Parts: sequence; C-alpha cells; structure tokens
Amino acid sequence: MAKLDRRGFLKRGSIVTASTFLSGSTKLHLLAAAEGEPPKPIAANDNIQIALIGAGGQGQHDTRVALEVPGVKVLAVADCYNGCLDHCKEMWGSDLMACRDYQEILARKDVDAVIIGTPDHWHMQVCLDAMNAGKDVYCEKPMIHVYSDGPKIIEVARKNNRIIQIGSQRVSSIIYKKAKELLAAGSIGQLNMVTAWYDRNSAMGAWEYTVPPDASPETCDWPRFVGTAPKIPFNAEHFFQWRKWKAYGSGVAGDLFVHLFSGVHFVTDVHGPTRAMATGGLRFWKDGRDVPDVMLGLYDYPQGFNLSVRTNFVDGGSESEGFVFTGSEGTMTIGNDGVSLTRVPREKEPGIRYQLFAEAIQKRMLAEYKEKYTPTHPGGETLVGDEKFVAPHGYSDSYDHMKTFIDAVRSRQPVVEDAVFGFRAAGTALLSNVSYERGTAVGWDPEGMRLL
Ligand SMILES: NC(=O)c1ccc[n+]([C@@H]2O[C@H](COP(=O)([O-])OP(=O)(O)OC[C@H]3O[C@@H](n4cnc5c(N)ncnc54)[C@H](O)[C@@H]3O)[C@@H](O)[C@H]2O)c1
Repeated sequence: MAKLDRRGFLKRGSIVTASTFLSGSTKLHLLAAAEGEPPKPIAANDNIQIALIGAGGQGQHDTRVALEVPGVKVLAVADCYNGCLDHCKEMWGSDLMACRDYQEILARKDVDAVIIGTPDHWHMQVCLDAMNAGKDVYCEKPMIHVYSDGPKIIEVARKNNRIIQIGSQRVSSIIYKKAKELLAAGSIGQLNMVTAWYDRNSAMGAWEYTVPPDASPETCDWPRFVGTAPKIPFNAEHFFQWRKWKAYGSGVAGDLFVHLFSGVHFVTDVHGPTRAMATGGLRFWKDGRDVPDVMLGLYDYPQGFNLSVRTNFVDGGSESEGFVFTGSEGTMTIGNDGVSLTRVPREKEPGIRYQLFAEAIQKRMLAEYKEKYTPTHPGGETLVGDEKFVAPHGYSDSYDHMKTFIDAVRSRQPVVEDAVFGFRAAGTALLSNVSYERGTAVGWDPEGMRLL
C-alpha cells in the first residue's frame, strides 16, 4: 500500500467534503480537491523513475513534490554547483547519481522522465536533448528564453511523441478550475477586463539570492552554466542571481507575468492577445541588473477583453499576487486561498434625469416614466451578492500539477499545459519585454504564435 502522510492526504482532499455556509452576507463554499478517494497502490513495474536537471531552489522543490506522488523514484541529478549535488544526495540517498553533465543522465535507459529546473537560457536545449533521448519532460516556466525556442520544443515533442508539461502549477489548481467553471457558467456575465498583479517587497523577492561562501570556479561549473550566454569570467552573482540579467533570465515578464498569463489563458480558455504595450523602469534595485524592477503591461484580447498586469518590487506592503476578472454582471477575484464572486444585480430600469427642466415638463416626464416602469416594492428573500470558494487548508497546486504530469507519463494522455500552451503563455509574457525595449506597442499572432 502506498505510504501517505497527512499532508499528502489533505492534498487529495480525501477527508474534505464540499460544504456551503453563510459568513455574514458572503456565501462560503469549501472546495473539494481533485480526487475524493485515496490513491491506489502502485505496482513495482509501474514506478516512474525520474531525474532532475538543474537542482537549485525550484528543481529541488519540484522533485520533493514528485516524490510525494505514489510510485515515483528519483535516480539521478545534474547540476553545475557541487553544493546542490551534495544536498540532493543528503536528501535522496548516497546511491543517487549526481553529475555535472546532464547528458550522462539522458544516456540512462532506466530514466523515464526528467524535471528541468535550470535557468531559462537552458530550457530549450535540455528539453530538446531530453525528448530526443526518449524522456518525458516537466520543464519549469517560462518555457522559452527567446522566441525561436518555442517552435523547436513543440516540434521535437511531437516528433518523439513525448509528454511535456510546463511548470506553471496554477493551471492544475482547484481554485483556477473553479474560476474557469464560474466564468464559463456566466457568473460574471460578459468578460470585459482582467487585472492581474504580482508585487513584492523584499530583497529575496527582488532575486537577491544568497551566494554560498564556497562559490568558486572549482565548486561551480561556470562554462556549463553560461552555455550559449555571452562568455564572461566567473561571476558568482551571475551564477546564483541569474534572474537579474537578460542573458540567462527574462525579467519579471518571464519570471512572474508568465504565471499570470498561464492563469488567465487557462481560466478564460483563450490563446493570447493580439497587441501588447508595456512600460516600467529600474527604480529601486540598482545593483548592476539589466532588467526593470517595475513593469506594467496592457494587452488586447480578440475575445473582447483587455488585460493589465503589473509587478512592483518595492510595493510598500507584503507580497501579493492576484487577479480580478470584470464582467457585465459582476467581478471574480482569485487570491491565494480561493476565488470570490461579487455580483451586483444590474438595474432593470434606465432611470430618469428630469430635475433641470421646466416644471410642466418634469411632471409630464415623471408621469410617463411611472406608467412605463411601475414602482415595485422589493421583498422576500435577500439577495446574496458575494460568494467565495475556498481551497482546503494545506492545499498544494504544485502537488496537483506534478501528479497531472506523472499520471500523463503513465497514461500517455495529453496534458493541458503542454508545449503549445507553454509557448503561448511565455510568448505573451515576453511581449512585455519586446514592447518595453522598443518603446512601442507590439503585435502578436496568438494562433500562429509569432511576433507581428
Ligand atoms: N513554478 C514556480 O513557481 C517556479 C518558482 C521558482 C522558479 N521557477 C523556475 O525554475 C527554474 C529554476 O529557478 P531556480 O530559482 O530554481 O534557480 P536556481 O538558480 O536556484 O537553480 C538553477 C540551477 O540550475 C543549475 N544549472 C544551470 N545550468 C545548468 C546546466 N546546463 N545543467 C544542469 N544544471 C544547470 C544551476 O547550477 C542551479 O543550481 C527557472 O526557470 C525559474 O523560472 C519556477
């Protein structure tokens, strides 16, 4: 029988029943997690054997989450820093294969799938090499670093018939699934605007990650880390705080906006905008980085809504991320713990503006209005305007996202956040950088996935 700790149990929602109750004037619903039954035992020959390529912060996290999914084993890890390789052995056992060159891992026949947690400038090459070696791939977001990466990853995934899932975990979240369902059911009427943000207010939030004291050209494989980026002498800040430079990362657009676009594209079921404009600047973190720390973007969607996104790295408050979807009949807000609806019934009468006219005309206007719109006296049940759907305490969308991937590796059924979805989300997010750098609006073909 598969071992299941309490956290894992909660994630699957086995002890969570959907319930509804009133809290003030807000109707509260507790969301039930994806599966209502405990996991089935996994046969030994149905184990999925994984390896991690890029074993830093997110790669380690993804792998820990993958190991919570029943029937998953980690066999090998590749990274450019000895300290991360050593720590992986500490976590996953001394018989773990740990190396610097990920090709050694791809040569192993017993590895079914790889998790790619390298910086962005390595995503495309590792994806291609892994899929050409017959591995399924869980690649962290953003899928691309430059636009030409997208078509190559899509083509190699198709050619090799590989499962590839990109790591914007919100796409598998029960909160976002509920939001998608509410929107499709017309809960806020016709969508006309989306506002999304990802603000931070700390050094860590602004990517000032701590450089370990043993960082050196001996402990860090600098040439391998640099890869196709411009060749410069060893630089520990570049190595450990790579998000601050375009050569390796994609600024706030690739790091944070991409999560917002993945969420919006999933909830609204659209492929992307046709036009984008972005502005911003480097206002606070003038530490040698070459990407802005404040960015705002505006996007036109052909379905008839506009989207605005923003990131502010010194927002004067606590870190916050969220969305407001505005429709003709109400608003829907996604926060960390759930999704809320606020509906204000639209007025049935047009109203009348009569006070500024001569009295005789006023009387006539009022009489005609009252005849057409008979006065009513509302009674009966009070309308509940607000509803909130809350995820169970301890819920993890990272687990659900990883489980979606592992299930797909077993079943060979396609995933939602595949290479096409990943390119559309990242391609849209990176429009902000193109617009910011060019100082002009940019066009995008969301179906053909190309810059116009
Ligand atoms: N889904 C999320 O919520 C989420 C959160 C954080 C990061 N991420 C993504 O995860 C990726 C990694 O981010 P991070 O914060 O873990 O960075 P990190 O710097 O902590 O880890 C990256 C690791 O990749 C290694 N590496 C670099 N080049 C390599 C190569 N050629 N072969 C093998 N290893 C290599 C580095 O040595 C480093 O240890 C990024 O794409 C980031 O956008 C996603």
